[in-house]
Amino acid sequence: MMQSVPRLLIAIGIGATLTGGAQAAGDPAVGKVKFATCTGCHAIPGYTNAYPNYHVPRLGGQHPDYTVAALNGYQTGERQHPTMHANAFPLNEQDMRDIAAFLAGARTAAIPAPIRGDAAAGKTKSATCVACHGADGNGNIPLYPRLAGQHEDYLRKALADYQSGARKNPVMKGIVATLSARDVADLAAYFASQPNGLTVVKSD
Ligand code: HEC
Ligand code: HEC
Repeated sequence: MMQSVPRLLIAIGIGATLTGGAQAAGDPAVGKVKFATCTGCHAIPGYTNAYPNYHVPRLGGQHPDYTVAALNGYQTGERQHPTMHANAFPLNEQDMRDIAAFLAGARTAAIPAPIRGDAAAGKTKSATCVACHGADGNGNIPLYPRLAGQHEDYLRKALADYQSGARKNPVMKGIVATLSARDVADLAAYFASQPNGLTVVKSD
């Protein structure tokens, strides 16, 4: 009995350490199961949000830390979207980490979509974006989302939301302040057209 108490404490200590490690990394296999309720929108090529009409964002290959931040944003209401609020609401931090770990590796073959804006003009204008998002939108900074391969209309919507204040982020708020509607369209075209980027989620 005298000896079992320290052993128990050690066991608890190890357990806590392991949990902490798993929380930091997330378990992609568990995340795949937890993502089942999300596939109806996020694992269907070309699926769109009804009002306003734009493509549901591509999540395959996204940085896990950004995905967790996005889900927290919807859960707290800092990022406003009723459907995503409902979907993020029941998730705890571990669920988010598991799902994010799954999504990071759940890329499918990219299906190139026709680009509507002027990607060449967007490339010139992207000089102020690349320090954070990478030259081709495939940057490596965990909290800065990958933009390459994302749907063009979703990127336009995201930039317009930062401009209107519907989506709040102190960094992006400053960035979009001076962009014209034309700049937004060109930048969205450029990042959407970059290869090796985000894809629809592989859910088979
Ligand atoms: C009914 C359709 C639908 C379902 C179901 C759904 N989503 Fe979404 N999701 C959307 C739409 C639409 C957006 C874009 C919302 C916006 O404009 O902010 C979105 C945005 C996101 C984003 C932000 C992407 C980015 O680049 O910032 C993440 C992460 C996400 N969803 C994860 C999930 C997860 C995880 C689930 C399941 C627990 C889920 N979604 C279920 C429609 C859906
Ligand atoms: C100083 C770093 C920084 C710079 C420079 C920057 N961004 Fe961002 N960007 C961020 C961060 C951080 C986020 C995530 C914000 C959030 O959680 O809403 C973000 C988010 C975005 C999103 C939303 C992506 C999504 O999946 O919803 C788009 C689109 C975007 N940036 C485009 C741009 C463009 C275009 C430029 C250049 C004109 C730019 N950014 C410059 C840091 C930066």
